[in-house]
Amino acid sequence: MVDNLNLEEKLKNCLKSHDASSCIPPVCYSNEEILKIEKDVLFKKQWICIGHVSFLKKAGDYITKEILDTPVIIIRDKSKKIRVFANVCRHRSAKLLEGKGNTSGIICPFHSWSYNLEGRLKGAPNMDDAKSFKRDEISLKEFHSEVRLGLCFVHFENNLEKNLDEQIDNFENIHSKWPMETLVSTRERTFNVNCNWKAFLEVFNEYYHLPYVHPETIGDVYKLPNFPDTTNGAFTSQFGRTSGNGALLENEQQFALPDMPGLSSDVLNSVRYTWIFPNLTFAIGNDALWIYEVHPLNSHSCKVFQTTCFPESTVKLSSFEKLSKQYYHRMDAAIEEDIPALENQQNGLKNPYAEPGRFSPLLEANVVSFANWYSKKLIESDNLSLIT
Ligand code: FES
Ligand SMILES: [Fe+2]
Repeated sequence: MVDNLNLEEKLKNCLKSHDASSCIPPVCYSNEEILKIEKDVLFKKQWICIGHVSFLKKAGDYITKEILDTPVIIIRDKSKKIRVFANVCRHRSAKLLEGKGNTSGIICPFHSWSYNLEGRLKGAPNMDDAKSFKRDEISLKEFHSEVRLGLCFVHFENNLEKNLDEQIDNFENIHSKWPMETLVSTRERTFNVNCNWKAFLEVFNEYYHLPYVHPETIGDVYKLPNFPDTTNGAFTSQFGRTSGNGALLENEQQFALPDMPGLSSDVLNSVRYTWIFPNLTFAIGNDALWIYEVHPLNSHSCKVFQTTCFPESTVKLSSFEKLSKQYYHRMDAAIEEDIPALENQQNGLKNPYAEPGRFSPLLEANVVSFANWYSKKLIESDNLSLIT
């Protein structure tokens, strides 16, 4: 049972400045009705980022994914444009593609209707006597999609409230010192975590837990971060210096790969942590980019896609295979330490006596920015009264 009025009051406390805001109310991390509102308001009615597309290099390269219960195909068409289609046949709704790969066209495994890379129906056997059946008027359902800095964004609704640049505003500018769009992904990993989707994104974006959850692994690598940049769009970003390399463990610093080509000296020995609302976050250092895309499975568990990217020139080095393992080791070690902390927090969030706390303004700055944005969206949606 959720006290709606009280919930709205608590969300209003998240609209305050960084040093005065409260945390998102605990009920938002364990209530299925709130998750339904989140999916509608935060995911379906705006552009969402669905990951780095460097692995889609050639025409016909594709990957399939399930985003908010909607299976999609992300594919590069003949003119090299990225397109996002619903992964469903226009005949009797079979799923068209599985996994990832390269194809010259999309052929349905059920009755062999075939579509070109632009989604147009090209072949449909034994349909000549179907009245008014016009192949050239049938296409796969396509969603709006755009690519910025190598990241693909999709919008599920036909009518756009905002175009992508209005939504993410100065996103490209803030990341202009890193060659993000030229990086290539070298490892992808998917795993589930027993915590609310927001909690996973929050822990990745805060410095507060580092010395307590990661004392032996990465806790000492990070210095105090700068105050977050002013972001005008639906994202937040915080830059911070490191002692050594943020993409390697404290005791494996000797395995560093070269810096990204052309990186200016003011961003060496640093990491920028960015959260594109609602559900994609990444960190970019001198040498690597690591990305987490998080999808809710239900209110208390989520699916996480982890991607690690490097410059092409680094990937070509003979030492890359050996040295990159240390980077993957660092990513996995940090997550292995975060997961028990997240599962413990998830149990706490279910406690009927849990109440919103306060943030450490500098060390949880990205998390405060998200809480501001989240609460504003939920309050504006006017849907809170629907929660029973
Ligand atoms: S369902 Fe795809 S061709 Fe029949
Ligand atoms: Fe962590």
